[in-house]
Amino acid sequence: MKINGGIPLKGTIKTQGAKNAALPVMAVCLLLRGQTLTLDNVPDLYDINTMIALIEDLGVNAEIMRSENKSQIAFHVPEEIKWEVSENLARKMRGSSLLLGPVLASCGRVSLPLPGGCSIGARPIDLHLKGLKQMGADIEIQNGIVHASVKGKLRGRRIYLDFPSVGATENLMMAASLAKGETIIENIAREPEIDNLAAALRCIGVPVELEGTGGVRIQGIESVHSGHERVIPDRIETCTYILAGIMTNGHIKIEDIVPSHIDAILAKLEEAGAKFSVRRNVIEIFPAKKRLHPISVKTMPYPGFPTDSQPQMGAALSIARGVSTIEESVFQARFLYAQELNRMGADIQISRDVAVIRGVERLKGANVKATDLRAGAALIIAGLSAEGETIVEDMVHVWRGYEAIDKKLKSLGAQVELVS
Ligand code: UD1
Repeated sequence: MKINGGIPLKGTIKTQGAKNAALPVMAVCLLLRGQTLTLDNVPDLYDINTMIALIEDLGVNAEIMRSENKSQIAFHVPEEIKWEVSENLARKMRGSSLLLGPVLASCGRVSLPLPGGCSIGARPIDLHLKGLKQMGADIEIQNGIVHASVKGKLRGRRIYLDFPSVGATENLMMAASLAKGETIIENIAREPEIDNLAAALRCIGVPVELEGTGGVRIQGIESVHSGHERVIPDRIETCTYILAGIMTNGHIKIEDIVPSHIDAILAKLEEAGAKFSVRRNVIEIFPAKKRLHPISVKTMPYPGFPTDSQPQMGAALSIARGVSTIEESVFQARFLYAQELNRMGADIQISRDVAVIRGVERLKGANVKATDLRAGAALIIAGLSAEGETIVEDMVHVWRGYEAIDKKLKSLGAQVELVS
């Protein structure tokens, strides 16, 4: 993407459906037999297309209905589905691990190539496997492929997650839906995507109760029924555009947001002196007279500051009025964007899991590489605010998570162009 920077963004855009909510909610269809799961507000993204291909490869027919105001997919599930997940497709994305729980629960067995995805650090699935073992699954890993099977049905259990992993919570919730008896999972992830998954499971008849104390109680049932659910708005996309507005000193409105989902980010932006107002499901960003104040940020599981917004926040703080720090406590390799931002004139030093960011007055355009999805987003918003021309290479990462980012930015007056 070629960006001619320095133009304040102006206008209104609408948030896309959440990638990270859509992926598990799509996987829910694998619990069905001879029924249909219909989902609204499914974003049009590389990762979503990979998930559709993975699910279709297991025998499901995905009917995609997209128009200007509609983004619906109906998954028509046959009486029998396959249990061997395609290796080529699984290696394309980390989210393929979400097939483990539902296929195992539905077919009694599954083979899943260990997933690929963004290079943001080690991303084991030991917690997913430990929970499934506790529910009675036999699991072996051979040549990078997880083979899991269960005699009869999975059994409901009390499971404690050693870390509130989003993916492990999702896999175990789906597995528990068809297990014999009740499953209680403690110390679960409480990201909004988990609420969306709980709603999707309820819509096909599974009794799911999320408890305020960080647990979930699921009553396993014999069989589920057809259902219809909506994917929540993408809080990470919202925050990317909020920060683009702030960094360019723009005046933008973003519609279809859920303010409570972005509380942590709004609190930090308020602390940094950003000017915005939130009314129901719309946020308006106002041009500020001064640069942001420096702040300290630490990423944490929800409701803490999301690791997926950390690189974009790093970009914004690189032009703040002083020294900020960011501590990354969720993934190990999430500062790869810093060396690219430094090529644009930023002053960021990394020592282990802490970035020290000395704000500079202005970034300068440069040729940079998107090392992963959110790093790519950070570099694009940096390029929008920088003086001169920026070229962000390896956009393939960005298409995994941002629908029509070029068109959305153009509608806000940005000068961006896709070049090969
Ligand atoms: C999901 C999101 C990702 C987001 C992350 C944290 C999707 C497709 N991806 O990823 O965008 O950045 O949540 O909000 O929804 N861990 C283990 N063992 C496990 C599982 C995780 O050690 O079995 C560790 C990971 O290495 C990492 C931490 O737990 O340090 C968080 O991972 P997790 O919450 O599972 O993230 P994902 O579900 O992979």
